[in-house]
Amino acid sequence: MIRIKSPREIEKMRRAGQIAAAARDLAGKLAVPGATTHDIDKQVEAFIRSRHAIPTCIGYCGYPAATCISVNEEVVHGIPGKRVIKEGDLVSVDLDVGFEGCIGDCAATFIAGKARCDEDVKLLSITRQAFYEGLRFARPGYRVSDISAAVQQFVEENGFSVIRDYVGHGIGTEMHEEPEVPNFGKPGHGPRLVKGMTICIEPMVCAGSWPVRVLSDGWTAVTRDGSRAAHYENTILITDGEPEILTVPEPEV
Ligand code: MF3
Ligand code: CO
Repeated sequence: MIRIKSPREIEKMRRAGQIAAAARDLAGKLAVPGATTHDIDKQVEAFIRSRHAIPTCIGYCGYPAATCISVNEEVVHGIPGKRVIKEGDLVSVDLDVGFEGCIGDCAATFIAGKARCDEDVKLLSITRQAFYEGLRFARPGYRVSDISAAVQQFVEENGFSVIRDYVGHGIGTEMHEEPEVPNFGKPGHGPRLVKGMTICIEPMVCAGSWPVRVLSDGWTAVTRDGSRAAHYENTILITDGEPEILTVPEPEV
């Protein structure tokens, strides 16, 4: 069942989203050569807690950290640890924030220091733009797979592949709610979008081919061909008109 959110829940999701987006910005600043993924995770966790919010990833299905940090050919769910970030690494940070029982989820990929090649820069920009291509269909009158098809078409037109094994999702009081929001598929299928739904659109894109495998830590998903990957995610609210991105930093006053 897809639950329509109440105005009260939406307000809390906005707050969670603002903290999540600020935490993502912080992670981007920390993702520099020489930093360990553990350092980044701990600083992001401290920031989330300083805002009286909860790093919801900790303990989710036994996950041990506040953030997922996935480097280069790691697509998602990399566990922060001793790994030292190197110049030109692609650092994907995914995090969830809980505020008064409501959740915001967002991710982005950053380049540490100087880019290794133009293809890396293009991969990040196509992944981010793919989110916005999907977002155009995130409104009443469309169905979930209209978002999926828009993301896939844009990514493939630009010579990259969308990951199939992980998908976007509904969100609210749980990190993962119905519906699933894949980044691939034919348009015109799946649930109809309705005002008050909250979903995560999260293109996961790689430069090579899309099959992935999970490392022996039970979490880290890497591309089988070793090609580099990027991720971009926001939590959004379906409205009567333009969708509202909930994972945006608080406006400065
Ligand atoms: N934030 C992820 C998503 O986009 C899920 C995090 S998995 C966890 O769905 F185990 F780290 F919580
Ligand atoms: Co996420």
